[in-house]
Amino acid sequence: MSRNILITGGAGFIGSHVVRLFVNKYPDYRIFNLDKLTYAGNLENLRDVEQAPNYTFIKGDICDFDRMREIFTEHRIDGVIHLAAESHVDRSIRDPFAFAQTNVLGTLSLLQAARLAWEDTGGMDGKLFYHVSTDEVYGSLDERGFFTETTSYDPKSPYSASKASSDHFVRAYHNTYGMPVVISNCSNNYGPNQFPEKLIPLFINNIRHNKPLPVYGKGENVRDWLYVVDHARAIDVIFHGCRPGDTYNIGGFNEWKNIDLIRTMIRVVDRLLGRPEGASLNLIAYVTDRAGHDLRYAIDSTKLKNELGWEPSLQFEEGLEKTVRWYLDNGPWLDRVTSGAYQKYYDTMYGERS
Ligand code: NAD
Ligand code: TYD
Repeated sequence: MSRNILITGGAGFIGSHVVRLFVNKYPDYRIFNLDKLTYAGNLENLRDVEQAPNYTFIKGDICDFDRMREIFTEHRIDGVIHLAAESHVDRSIRDPFAFAQTNVLGTLSLLQAARLAWEDTGGMDGKLFYHVSTDEVYGSLDERGFFTETTSYDPKSPYSASKASSDHFVRAYHNTYGMPVVISNCSNNYGPNQFPEKLIPLFINNIRHNKPLPVYGKGENVRDWLYVVDHARAIDVIFHGCRPGDTYNIGGFNEWKNIDLIRTMIRVVDRLLGRPEGASLNLIAYVTDRAGHDLRYAIDSTKLKNELGWEPSLQFEEGLEKTVRWYLDNGPWLDRVTSGAYQKYYDTMYGERS
């Protein structure tokens, strides 16, 4: 059983919720959070755990192979939960090289560092390399059907291509070197601490500032939304209960057409801001579609439920309300992460769409 656990990307959105869960739930484990602190990494997300005796933060880049070697040896890492990545599809369309670098080469550097360290210290028994991935590797669905664990990979964006490639490397390490690995492919997450480049926090922030809400295309694309803490709970049960070499899909059976989600979100934000119902509906602005925009994602997570007993704990309406409240109560967090370079990002990304 792993005890010295390296969580990569722990200062990001999902990673910070995973770090918090593991630090609080497993006081006997030593949790090392390795993060490069890119624009998406923020140690403010972890203020409540930074003093915990079983928690250590390490600033570092997963692409730095020599450093990864040192970290595995120095801290006798025997479990990895790998979340560090470039994660935003729109950015991947502008700068695919960054995605190949971090998501593919970074994952490979981490795999190789883990393999060499584990081979040097008694082999693979009791070790686990957990790779956190996305349902986007399966491509796009039309109106019907679900992604299952046996759906063929068919990534369509530079982001999903890079994640698919990293998944293949992880499986190759299992097949070739006998490394105990597990992969989970999860649907769209939402919740506190998500960088406001992704749909839900971006739109909450824009409604707050009475700024236009840039809906891509006709708003008819469908996403399957899961509360981030439920994703972290799934990672916990998979880490502790998986069969090495296996794959698990994680999703909430919670599909929303973008425009329906956006209208629902506007109602919740307006109510919590004390604005008249629907006051912000006129902020909706249909803009040029995302290139190669996947139509629909929908995950079948039956295997995870049947084998490991995991189910989402929150209904979407409850999760959305909690999420909107969090962003409205944490205006200074939003203001800090949207100052500086964010403005340039926003102007570049949206300037030419409208
Ligand atoms: P995020 O962009 O919020 O955070 C990524 C974190 O990785 C940041 O803290 C960043 O500083 C760190 N990082 C980036 N490059 C690094 C490097 N070279 N070395 C070390 N750290 C680095 O991402 P997220 O939304 O929290 O996603 C986490 C993981 O979950 C990713 O692998 C992503 O593909 C996957 N995933 C995300 C979603 C989603 O809806 N957000 C859904 C399914 C799977
Ligand atoms: P996003 O949060 O970027 O996640 P992903 O692309 O990984 O699913 O986008 C969710 C959906 O919202 C997707 O269909 C694209 C759409 N979208 C907009 O319509 N406008 C926006 O400004 C953004 C960021 C996304």
